[in-house]
Amino acid sequence: MAEPKHLVMTGATSGIGLEAVKQLDQAGHRLTLICRNSTRAERLGDQLQHTADIRIADLADLQAVADLADALNSQTTSIDVLVLNAGLQYAGHSTPRRNRSGIELTLAVNHLAHQLLAERLAATAQRVVITASEVHNPSTGGGRVGLPAGLGDMAGLQVGSAAAMADGITPFDADKAYKDSKLCNLLMGLELSRRQPDKPVVCWSPGLVIPRKDGGFFRDSRTANPIGQRLFGFVARDLLRLTETPQRAGEHLSRLVLDPALPNGFSYWSNALLGPGRHRFGPTAASAEASDPGRALELWRRSAELIRTSLSGEAPRDQSDTPDSVSR
Ligand SMILES: NC(=O)c1ccc[n+]([C@@H]2O[C@H](COP(=O)([O-])OP(=O)(O)OC[C@H]3O[C@@H](n4cnc5c(N)ncnc54)[C@H](OP(=O)(O)O)[C@@H]3O)[C@@H](O)[C@H]2O)c1
Repeated sequence: MAEPKHLVMTGATSGIGLEAVKQLDQAGHRLTLICRNSTRAERLGDQLQHTADIRIADLADLQAVADLADALNSQTTSIDVLVLNAGLQYAGHSTPRRNRSGIELTLAVNHLAHQLLAERLAATAQRVVITASEVHNPSTGGGRVGLPAGLGDMAGLQVGSAAAMADGITPFDADKAYKDSKLCNLLMGLELSRRQPDKPVVCWSPGLVIPRKDGGFFRDSRTANPIGQRLFGFVARDLLRLTETPQRAGEHLSRLVLDPALPNGFSYWSNALLGPGRHRFGPTAASAEASDPGRALELWRRSAELIRTSLSGEAPRDQSDTPDSVSR
């Protein structure tokens, strides 16, 4: 085996991240895994051969994320790879969920928590890998279904805005919020690589991954539409064979984490669907919006300000439309 690496990772308790982590653990790499709570963490620990350094932080709680990043900075000498993989979506639900600061949860978890980790930890990392999605791109198959990704003038990312959507004007749409968050992942990667050109910053898309067992990525959508989601899973995975397996997606993530040939700078990799049961994994072009350095800088600045305000407890957002501000 190649020299063991130290990997710090979010989203290791389920799905693609879990598959990748099992492979990386088996290969003897040193793992620091950021988990939402101790129950999930214990279940993860039971599945690994070696003892991982498991840290608890709900990514919806930006203060917990900041505290954890600071603890890692003071306790950890170096990070070989920072893997920002956690993600959620609750498409099918009509009401926005928000964190304690009033920030819509998809944006807070998928994007802001990861920008915060990038701000505080990326400088000590040799490489950063970010799990995005093809749905960030309105011209791809998944990106064409429903409202397209697009951050507009980013008015919803203004400190003090009560808007649930990043563009500040679209009525809440959980599916678009997810697509927008994945667009944010790419723009964040682009800006991070401009700030830290001395390392590979890799964004990637795993393709559509629908595990057979309950839980996983579609768990929340399933509660909104149990029959429709099961039917969708069966048709997409078993009938049309449009999906990638979690194992294979985990292999792609492991490869991006370890591949010694990745050059410094930004790259975007996608697991393109070629036909039933056939994918091709490789570098590809991101959408026009995701490739715009000006948008990337603007998003970084606004996100940094939102994070800063959220951490200082200033100007909490109006939470009047939020029945639940929890993350499970
Ligand atoms: N599945 C797909 O079709 C697909 C397609 C394109 C991109 N992706 C992306 O791939 C990544 C992994 O998704 P997946 O398919 O593996 O989904 P998954 O099985 O639901 O795994 C998501 C991971 O994110 C973690 N997470 C979610 N919310 C969190 C929070 N508030 N605090 C801490 N951790 C949290 C989950 O932790 P818990 O176990 O505690 O919930 C879990 O480890 C995501 O970024 C997703 O957007 C997935």
